Amino acid sequence: MEKIANTRYEPTGKNAFVTGTSKGLGEQIGKRLLEMGVHVIGNSRSDPPESFVEYIANGAADYEIGDLAQNGQQIIETIYEKHGGYEIFVNNAGAFSPDYFSRLEPEVIAREINLDLVVPLLLHRGWFGLYNQQHSDARKPELSVNICSISSFYAWPGGTAYQAAKSGLSAALAGLRSMEAYLQDNASVSDKEALGAVAGLSPRIVAIYPDNVDTGLLSKSAQGSLYRVSGDLLPVSIVTDTVIKAIEGKDKFGEYDDIAILVNPKEPETRKELKGVYLAFLPLDGETHRPDFGARQLEQIADEDVLVKGRN
Ligand SMILES: NC(=O)c1ccc[n+]([C@@H]2O[C@H](COP(=O)([O-])OP(=O)(O)OC[C@H]3O[C@@H](n4cnc5c(N)ncnc54)[C@H](OP(=O)(O)O)[C@@H]3O)[C@@H](O)[C@H]2O)c1
Repeated sequence: MEKIANTRYEPTGKNAFVTGTSKGLGEQIGKRLLEMGVHVIGNSRSDPPESFVEYIANGAADYEIGDLAQNGQQIIETIYEKHGGYEIFVNNAGAFSPDYFSRLEPEVIAREINLDLVVPLLLHRGWFGLYNQQHSDARKPELSVNICSISSFYAWPGGTAYQAAKSGLSAALAGLRSMEAYLQDNASVSDKEALGAVAGLSPRIVAIYPDNVDTGLLSKSAQGSLYRVSGDLLPVSIVTDTVIKAIEGKDKFGEYDDIAILVNPKEPETRKELKGVYLAFLPLDGETHRPDFGARQLEQIADEDVLVKGRN
């Protein structure tokens, strides 16, 4: 099984644009990065959370209030004007409206696909494009961390639109990696010239696939929904720890760019020792992004060498 080279990364002193930081995972990821000396530019439609206020006051953080679905490109350009851009992008903001498909209003389906798939693609494009236009002084994209969902791998009755969007995001990230590899190894000089400075970019693209997380998102989204999401919840700290380790490339985390975080695997009889939370790292191989991947049991393909028991 081929693994990518171990990727250690030092985020201290870099700029990180983290979306959806008013609460939940985004707030906690942003907070951890701030504690590590990263200059975080947060974003949400509502005001910054209490945990950001002091950092903003002393200049260690900034905040762009705005709807990513309406003003994503404008926010990217504002960050360039104020901070010269950002090396790290944490694509976290997401929409989640579980219900039986026929009960989802068309605009809810469109909003979910837009925020969970189209907006992340446009935000990556805008980030890369910034470097192309302003390559003499824009901060170079180095690391893209994407909060995907385990829904990309397991079909469930209330998740049709959500898992379509999140699976699309996962496929898009694989496409970006493929493009980067091609540009590095195979593309012609004339293609590279036509593309401009962006052809020389090769940020590490990381995808995190959490199971249900205890952020309040599930109980909030259950309001008005006929279908109830059930099952245990991952503590927010487990997911945040994983994201930070993936950013730093610590231990085994630098060897994998696709990282799943599961609660109580579906086949406890085959993995009796794995009670509670554990982390499964998806090996990066030719099989990982096959179209039938979602039909296979994640646990069966996780690399046993690197299964790590989490705290419960
Ligand atoms: N919680 C889970 O069980 C779970 C499991 C797997 C994956 N995930 C993924 O993890 C990510 C974070 O989830 P979470 O549970 O932390 O959600 P959350 O608590 O609802 O937080 C979502 C954040 O996104 C912001 N946001 C929503 N729409 C936005 C928009 N149009 N423009 C800008 N910001 C927007 C929200 O702020 P405002 O409302 O103020 O804009 C909030 O800060 C999502 O991508 C989600 O799909 C979650």
